[in-house]
Amino acid sequence: MNRAVTVSRFGGPEVIEVVKISMPHPGPGEARVKVEAASVHPVDLETRAGRYGELPEPSGRLVLGWDYAGRIDAVGPHVDASLVGITVTGWRYWFDTREGTQADYIVVPIESATPCPSSLSPAALTTLPLNGNTAFQALELLGLQRGDTLAILGAAGGIGGFAMDLAVHRGIAVAGIADDSDRNFIEGRGGHFISRTSRDVAGCLRRALRGPADALIATAPVDRSVLAGIEPGGAAVSAVGERPANSGLDWRFLNAHPNTDQTVELVRMAERGEIALRVAGTIPFEDAAEAHRAAARPGTRGRYVLTSTERR
Ligand SMILES: NC(=O)c1ccc[n+]([C@@H]2O[C@H](COP(=O)([O-])OP(=O)(O)OC[C@H]3O[C@@H](n4cnc5c(N)ncnc54)[C@H](OP(=O)(O)O)[C@@H]3O)[C@@H](O)[C@H]2O)c1
Repeated sequence: MNRAVTVSRFGGPEVIEVVKISMPHPGPGEARVKVEAASVHPVDLETRAGRYGELPEPSGRLVLGWDYAGRIDAVGPHVDASLVGITVTGWRYWFDTREGTQADYIVVPIESATPCPSSLSPAALTTLPLNGNTAFQALELLGLQRGDTLAILGAAGGIGGFAMDLAVHRGIAVAGIADDSDRNFIEGRGGHFISRTSRDVAGCLRRALRGPADALIATAPVDRSVLAGIEPGGAAVSAVGERPANSGLDWRFLNAHPNTDQTVELVRMAERGEIALRVAGTIPFEDAAEAHRAAARPGTRGRYVLTSTERR
């Protein structure tokens, strides 16, 4: 049986329905994955609520979900049959495919599936692909070198946490702007903690980094108190929100896309403990509405992860 987490209209968590859908079959170059875990991201909540302007009201059922971790259970023609049984993770750019990963079984191109070590649980692994690739691509856009400095707004969030780990690993000095309750997380990962409630965020950034930050990654809407702590003309990458007027920065909006090479590297780093995988909690597929309620609670850290209880 194949069940999926779906919506057929936009609204609150109550519009989510877990329904039986047809079993997919892998075509040439494809593998079928028995999904064991699929994370719930802010974008799933926004999609369910119909908050994306460009997304028309569903004409049929939409399966939610961007990333997954699970075992290959069948392969199509031209795919090595010995891959059956291995654990893989990956993600889809949902806005293109509109075919989500929150289902017991999904079919993916084999080259998009990253093999994973058994030391990492499927729940932990599925927190990585979308946000890890986003953080990776944000850093690529900035082009920072060892010894450069970086401010991250929302450093304890999904993207921000991975961006901090990647940057610290590359020898970039990071100041993470976050809630007071995030101090231990940020300092424990090698960043300088900056309280988002400080009256002088820019001054704190300058003191922590011994000057203005060379660059900014914004995972939440930015206000002027942050901008004043970034080097004039410096680079900024935003994953969310409007470009602030007259920021004086080289501002770019990120639209992250799946990149298997990056996911392979991210999984290796996670295996070595160089990036932290954070699971807020695991919730069975059939309680997906509860997962949306939990993920929406202020102060949530790490991802809620849907787990499949389906047994063949
Ligand atoms: N453009 C892209 O390619 C792309 C890709 C993936 C995701 N996104 C989007 O990027 C956004 C962030 O994603 P995410 O997964 O990182 O979300 P997340 O896990 O919810 O993290 C966002 C973090 O920002 C914090 N925050 C909010 N306002 C803040 C402020 N003024 N100062 C400091 N911290 C603040 C939040 O703290 P609290 O929870 O305490 O408020 C939270 O820790 C979402 O809207 C997501 O849909 C964009």
